[in-house]
Amino acid sequence: MGRFEGQTVVVTGGARGMGAAHARGFAAEGARVVVADVLDGEGRDLAAELGDRARFVHLDVADEVGWAALVREAEDAFGPVRVLVNNAGVLTLEPLDTIAPDTWRRVLDVNLTGMFLGIQAVTPSMRAAGGGAIVNVSSTAGIAPAPLLGAYVASKFGVRGLTKVAALELGRDNIRVNSVHPGVVRTPMTTETGDVGFAAIDAFPLDGHAIPRAAEPEEITRLVLFLASGEASFATGAEFVADGGLLLGPALQPEPR
Ligand SMILES: NC(=O)c1ccc[n+]([C@@H]2O[C@H](COP(=O)([O-])OP(=O)(O)OC[C@H]3O[C@@H](n4cnc5c(N)ncnc54)[C@H](O)[C@@H]3O)[C@@H](O)[C@H]2O)c1
Repeated sequence: MGRFEGQTVVVTGGARGMGAAHARGFAAEGARVVVADVLDGEGRDLAAELGDRARFVHLDVADEVGWAALVREAEDAFGPVRVLVNNAGVLTLEPLDTIAPDTWRRVLDVNLTGMFLGIQAVTPSMRAAGGGAIVNVSSTAGIAPAPLLGAYVASKFGVRGLTKVAALELGRDNIRVNSVHPGVVRTPMTTETGDVGFAAIDAFPLDGHAIPRAAEPEEITRLVLFLASGEASFATGAEFVADGGLLLGPALQPEPR
């Protein structure tokens, strides 16, 4: 028996990258997974791969009307939502003095407001189910700042705060809310060359760190599944870091003189 047998799980940004790994992980443990994303082709392909354990729903997480429709569809297809993984996110690499206000607003809309809308939309469903778990995907950039990541850092710090307020407000409903803080993970977000002409994964050298490499998405999936499961029954409002020691700083030993 899997840890999520028969449970309805929503994964936003589930069409590719870490979200797709999370969707596969939940499905492998018996969940019925709603893959929500703006990437229709990738999302449909993944749902087809997972068969009757999954369905794809087009959702822009910044659109509250879309959220209401998604929850209705999830409930009709699989029953009340027990797990929400607020995973969808966008990254821009740009200094604060040139980032366009519209770009700033869009990053905050997707990365932060999208998670608030998700929490608001699934809460009645989780109450009906007798409880649930919400995992908000922040980042090490939600704990320590980095240059060029102003909008992203602001949004991911915000996710930490949102998570803690939600945990306080929903704990009595048997709904736990936690944030995860991955370091650098090998996904299209970090490997694709952006407008700046380089890929994020090349901007953050990892060879001096305790675990001197990027993570594979599945290494974060295992943490997300743990937090969504009954194994984490006493964890709420907390930050879970999986960063290979990135936040510790360089691990290089001083050279003897
Ligand atoms: N890759 C990393 O190193 C890293 C590190 C820390 C945190 N994160 C976070 O992990 C999460 C997943 O990132 P990833 O690396 O898999 O990136 P990714 O770009 O590979 O995947 C992100 C997914 O979110 C979807 N998405 C974007 N905007 C959306 C919207 N408005 N509505 C619905 N879906 C939308 C994309 O279409 C995509 O499928 C993000 O929140 C990201 O900020 C990533």
